[in-house]
Amino acid sequence: MYENPRFYKDTDEHFVLKTTKEIFKILQLTDLHLGFGIFSKNQDKLAMEAVKKIIKKSKPNLIILTGDSIFPYIIKSGTRNNIKEAKKLVEFMDTFKIPYAFLFGNHDIEMGSKGSKEEISDIIIKGKYSIFNKGLNKLTGVGNYIIKLVNEENKIITALVILDSNMYRNGWFFSGFDCIHKDQTDWCMENLSRLKYENPDLFALAFFHMPLPEFKEAYEKMKLGDRSVEYNFGSIGESNDYFGISKYECEFFNKVLLNKTIKGIFCGHDHLNTLSLTYKGIMMTYGMSIDYLGYSKIGKRYTQRGGTLIEVNPHGSFRAVPIPLTTVVSKFVRGKKNV
Ligand SMILES: [Fe+2]
Ligand SMILES: [Fe+2]
Repeated sequence: MYENPRFYKDTDEHFVLKTTKEIFKILQLTDLHLGFGIFSKNQDKLAMEAVKKIIKKSKPNLIILTGDSIFPYIIKSGTRNNIKEAKKLVEFMDTFKIPYAFLFGNHDIEMGSKGSKEEISDIIIKGKYSIFNKGLNKLTGVGNYIIKLVNEENKIITALVILDSNMYRNGWFFSGFDCIHKDQTDWCMENLSRLKYENPDLFALAFFHMPLPEFKEAYEKMKLGDRSVEYNFGSIGESNDYFGISKYECEFFNKVLLNKTIKGIFCGHDHLNTLSLTYKGIMMTYGMSIDYLGYSKIGKRYTQRGGTLIEVNPHGSFRAVPIPLTTVVSKFVRGKKNV
């Protein structure tokens, strides 16, 4: 676990990260798909080089890995050993000497892989710069926690909500993608409401792996010319406008609207999607991805590859900027605001 006098766990079991920065820079990295197996040596090298370049370019104060960081899928990586993969991931991320928060995607604990979420968590926690909390035992998922960014006066500026968006419903791939469950949503909103007592102007940002159904809904409305959806940047690169969303009922977005604290949601999962929209006042953003291994022939594609920089202003606002790996990217990736 990250050790620093400016970082600790408070009585509410939330992490506290003190910042003196005018602008606090969070780099979202997603879908690294590091295999560390016999089939993935070349792709791993490329992915790690990409991560290094993006970190060097963006110089973040905190990195958030939004899932599918490792890929114990034997056909692609040549290993099912996600315990070894997690150790290698931690070793790699520690080299940057920048704190990094971790959450689970649907592939880190691929079906048939060696280690459970609990076992992988125990490895992640041991990272010298890692920030991770398994969260309450009774909650669905592993790794539901909050990082509070506070200023020198210990006033909370922003709450970073980290959630496990789970994997497949009933643990079975063919049941389709799961989503954030009701108990997790309730826990999240209760905690945010409590934190709002400390600072009524508080805003929060949420990070999890899979997109919400409302992201797709917003995209479809935008295509029909609905002016209530604001385009920020990026594009949908997946074929047939695919969003890897859950078909099950997910009330998270509606609760976000009611609670009024979360202003930005950052996900990964669909590697070719880089879109960012603002819908009903909530910014929803697909992080640029790293993957060289998960999708077939993705090594040759590049407009989606990069990271996403989120700049938090101490006066209560934020902005997100895509950080493409190469400078040769379409204006659809950079978007209107960031050309
Ligand atoms: Fe992925
Ligand atoms: Fe995924």
